[in-house]
Amino acid sequence: MKTYKIAVIPGDGTGPEVVREGLKVLQAVAQKCGFKYTTQSYDFGGERYLRTKEVLPDSAIAELKTFDTIYLGAIGHPDVKPGILEKGILLRLRFDLDQYINLRPVELYDERFCPLKNKKPADIDFVVVRENSEGLYKGLGEFQNKGTKDEVAIQVSHNTRRGVERCIRYAFEYTRQYGKKKKLTLCGKTNVLTFAFDLWERTFYEVAKEYSDIKTEYTHVDATTMWFVKNPEWFDVIVTDNMFGDIITDLGAMIQGGMGIAAGGNINPKGVSMFEPIGGSAPKYTGKNVINPLAAICAIAMLLRQIGEGKAAGLVEESVKTIVRTKIKDLAAGKMGYSTSQVGDMVAEALK
Ligand code: IPM
Ligand code: MN
Repeated sequence: MKTYKIAVIPGDGTGPEVVREGLKVLQAVAQKCGFKYTTQSYDFGGERYLRTKEVLPDSAIAELKTFDTIYLGAIGHPDVKPGILEKGILLRLRFDLDQYINLRPVELYDERFCPLKNKKPADIDFVVVRENSEGLYKGLGEFQNKGTKDEVAIQVSHNTRRGVERCIRYAFEYTRQYGKKKKLTLCGKTNVLTFAFDLWERTFYEVAKEYSDIKTEYTHVDATTMWFVKNPEWFDVIVTDNMFGDIITDLGAMIQGGMGIAAGGNINPKGVSMFEPIGGSAPKYTGKNVINPLAAICAIAMLLRQIGEGKAAGLVEESVKTIVRTKIKDLAAGKMGYSTSQVGDMVAEALK
């Protein structure tokens, strides 16, 4: 039997608190399903940076490549200028480990937690496949005449045929395997971004020819945000670029009940992937034992599915659903009716 090697990066703010609960649930499900794993913790994050001025040690990437998977809490520290940790840790890991997919399920577990009127769990159940290695996140651009009245700031979206195609192919495969409606939507902005989304659209319909079992559809990103609110039940799997994916998945998180429940995976299908709650470090709740750990627990479910423990993944998801439906008063921090560790205990208990 294989022993999985898991790297753990608890990170900043409430990251360590939610990661603790995720690992608690992992332990319970491993016992139940009979698989083995080891964990190794890394202290990358704001505290380490403030102490050592080092964002990520040079050895980190090579070392992380020796693991089966990575579990991340949150990156972002109130005393560190925005961008340093995000670019130096989170984006660096995504890029250097070539985690070119950011997979973000949007699933409503209980009608009570949906801010939209008359929407039920059956209506909000889709997945966003966000390109995770290119686009505006590539960081290409420049200042001209910086600091003068004639200043120009240029920020370029960099899209390669290879990068776009591998993302679109992943989305088609994902739709074929997991899509409930077998429908893939390309979300773009072909009416304005006539270079970038021309490439995306051409690639999308070319690849689509190999997937005649999958229905295809295109929506502009602005309209997509409208449909998320008005008719979320239309969606099954959505594929989009890095920036649009970043934006629409925050909206997605809100309609599924909030950041307390939203998880994501940074996936390299042939390499090392990394799973995280997408809500960030929530500094004001740090150390209070009030933050919702369910997103971090859902990230464990995604991690398990990726390493091939699909049965364990399903069990974790079912337990989360049960607890959300029968116990939790509100998904927001401090309003759950239970502490962070109690919620972790309840999910672990429901598994047994
Ligand atoms: C996310 C976050 C990151 C992103 C930030 C923290 C760099 O917002 O994971 O969605 O923009 O990708
Ligand atoms: Mn984001």
